[in-house]
Amino acid sequence: MNYELMAPCHFGLEVCTKREITDLGCRVTEVTDGRVSFTGDESAICRANMFMRTTERILLKAAEFKAVTWDELFEKTRAISWEDYIPWDGHFYVAKASSIKSQLFSPRDFQTIIQKAIIKRLQAHYKREGERLPMTGGDYVLRVTALKDKITIGMDTSGESLHKRGYRRMTAKAPITETLAASLIMLTPWNRERILVDPFCGSGTFCIEAAMMAAKIAPGLKRDFAATSWDNLIDRKYWYAAYDEAYSLHEEVDMESLKKELDIQGYDIDNDVLYAARSNAEDAGVRNLIHFQQRDVAELSHPKKYGFIITNPPYGERLEEKENLPALYRTLGERYEALPDWSMYLITAWDEAEKNIGRKADKNRKIYNGMMKTYFLSYMGAKPT
Ligand SMILES: C[S@@+](CC[C@H](N)C(=O)[O-])C[C@H]1O[C@@H](n2cnc3c(N)ncnc32)[C@H](O)[C@@H]1O
Repeated sequence: MNYELMAPCHFGLEVCTKREITDLGCRVTEVTDGRVSFTGDESAICRANMFMRTTERILLKAAEFKAVTWDELFEKTRAISWEDYIPWDGHFYVAKASSIKSQLFSPRDFQTIIQKAIIKRLQAHYKREGERLPMTGGDYVLRVTALKDKITIGMDTSGESLHKRGYRRMTAKAPITETLAASLIMLTPWNRERILVDPFCGSGTFCIEAAMMAAKIAPGLKRDFAATSWDNLIDRKYWYAAYDEAYSLHEEVDMESLKKELDIQGYDIDNDVLYAARSNAEDAGVRNLIHFQQRDVAELSHPKKYGFIITNPPYGERLEEKENLPALYRTLGERYEALPDWSMYLITAWDEAEKNIGRKADKNRKIYNGMMKTYFLSYMGAKPT
């Protein structure tokens, strides 16, 4: 069966999510701010959850219609054949509703009205009017968005957000999400043959995501997904196939030779966060592929040419930090200048970053990290001859 699917992503990074979907062999139907829509069957749902690094979840689009009154919302929701999606005993609820430029906006009302309309629909379909639904079966979590009065109801196939790969149990002060880190790496021309250094590595997210890509470790390999309990829609065999494909892909990689070839290094001034980084890398299965070391950015150096810095320096989350930012970014700029033919990519919320680095970026891309406006600065170095 072919479904309409949606992959929400970071605002400004739709291009990465689109590329991942195309690489999966699926057809992209629409790209809007913060969301890529595509079509795919049961196997595509399982594979998207298993292999996509840049999206927070995969939603199955169950309904889309215009509504400007609560009555209209109720009637149009009830008109959807929910019995095709949710079994009589399905445990369903609206987890989240968000509204932008729409007449209907109360998340609570969205939740209760949609829930009531689906209950009515299922009771009528199963000819069990007035009977309480058992809600003891699989989890059918609904997510609702209203955009300019267009209501979209998506069924969450992922459950816990996909940035939770199952490896980050310990965190640093201001960690970047795994999905954002993976998207940013994909925006750069980095590949496993090139050196990668994160001089402000914190809990190690950039290094770990890059190492997982190099080792072909699927981001979903160590976790479960909500739709594994949807016996009515997705046969177990599709999940088994996705896990099998992920295992074989990784098994093809010779980890011993990869360890010799790969040069990924994470530095941080704070030894405690490095403890978290090492432990997270261990859980992700890439501890042997990354060299973590306590080091001030002032000591950043590398003897080889053509490396990549991909990093997320402090951006003044705390007041006392703000005072140190000009000196810190100046130092980063100086250390970068001393690295022969290197490229540097950094994400920061500090709007004075470029000025203090002392060199105009080749590209300055605005990216929203949740509600926070950030800048992704690209300094492109030479390509190896
Ligand atoms: C925004 S956090 C990076 C978070 C990281 N991307 C993650 O996902 O966990 C910035 C990091 O810079 C480190 N840092 C601050 N000053 C430093 C310096 N002078 N040299 C090296 N690291 C420094 C902090 O300890 C902190 O872990």
